Amino acid sequence: MTQRVLTGITPSGTPHLGNYAGAIRPAVHASTQPDTDAFFFLADYHALIKCDDPQRVARSRLEIAATWIAAGLDPERVTFYRQSDIPEIPEFCWLLTCVTNKGLMNRAHAYKASVDQNTAKGVEPDDGINMGLFSYPILMAADILLFSAHLVPVGRDQIQHLEMARDIANRFNHLYAQGQTFLTPPYELIDDSVATLPGLDGRKMSKSYDNTIPLFEGGEKLLQSAINGIVTDSKLPGESKNAEGSHLFDLYKAFASAAQAEQFKHELKDGLGWGDAKKKLFELVNAELSPMRETYNELMANPERLEHMLLDGAAKARRIATPMMQEMRAMVGLRSPAQMQQREQAAKKEKAKSVRVASFRGDQGFQFRLFDAADKEIFLSVPFADPKQAGQISKQLQAGEYRLQPHAEAHQLIVAEVVVAELDTAQKDRLEAALLLS
Ligand code: TRP
Repeated sequence: MTQRVLTGITPSGTPHLGNYAGAIRPAVHASTQPDTDAFFFLADYHALIKCDDPQRVARSRLEIAATWIAAGLDPERVTFYRQSDIPEIPEFCWLLTCVTNKGLMNRAHAYKASVDQNTAKGVEPDDGINMGLFSYPILMAADILLFSAHLVPVGRDQIQHLEMARDIANRFNHLYAQGQTFLTPPYELIDDSVATLPGLDGRKMSKSYDNTIPLFEGGEKLLQSAINGIVTDSKLPGESKNAEGSHLFDLYKAFASAAQAEQFKHELKDGLGWGDAKKKLFELVNAELSPMRETYNELMANPERLEHMLLDGAAKARRIATPMMQEMRAMVGLRSPAQMQQREQAAKKEKAKSVRVASFRGDQGFQFRLFDAADKEIFLSVPFADPKQAGQISKQLQAGEYRLQPHAEAHQLIVAEVVVAELDTAQKDRLEAALLLS
């Protein structure tokens, strides 16, 4: 079975080598597997929560889109788009906001961490916290649930957001889909085999530690100078070095084959100098990146090409999002008259399935009895001369196409302008309970 795999990338900075090895490379690889229908998008609405610098958001959207394409993402094969090009996402987000308990959001790790920081600083608990941060998980749930994604590749820090998305999906299903699985509960896909790259100082490579190695920006030159800045121990050339425990070696391994890594390890043991080791690391990394860098530079120089690709992607995504959203608007009650009628008809039909008709030939002609879901008789019809007419009438009745007309002390049941039976009040009530909407 084809699995729909969806993930979002927040464009709030320039991609570095750690993003590439830890997220981009494995995701691009996964998108080429058979039986996956991959959705990748730039979570640019999410970026606004943390970044109020318009230049930076605009630049990062370009850089990240160009990076993914350069890294081999095939926009023909996957659906690649920007969150902000899909108006159904914020629309859906509001519907979900209205079924999400505030208490659930109070428990979100990211929000709680900000509150804790404020408490530690001795300021108001919600100081500097915007509503975007508070309801971040709802927007993320909308991203995922709108496309019925089964699997969401994310880092461990996002597991709680997936739990919340399932929680919100279940609540929507409970409230609006009679508990059926209309919204698909999504699951996180955590890949423990991918590298978490160390940064220049050996801590996890991260913008917030200012220890990153740039991916494409700055070209070969900046890549080389960043690699030269990797912190090592003070062993001299000729001294034996232990590869294990050296983060330079960890970086090397992330780009090397097993054989190359083994060889490098031996060279270090045999006294390879750190300067030469850095040169080798640069050559290895650069060999993988340089063809991609060319594509990247080309796309950055022609942003309208990227724009075109992303708008195509958005159109593709909206072929799913638009009908889904229409259906959900109707589900919650935002209905056009045509949708109202459609739903009433559908509900009547559904209900009519539980009644049963038994036809027979009596002394005076063809008659039928109608039984309710508990198999209790509701009424016996008048006799018909033509068995076809009797059949037709019982069908229409089951489809809910009837009206009741008060007559003397009773009610006439009329189908296709024919009086089918005279019902007393109890019979009328049972008929309505069986065939009418509650
Ligand atoms: N919260 C994710 C992150 O910080 C980004 C994101 C937004 C996302 N919407 C998503 C990831 C939907 C997966 C699915 O990494």
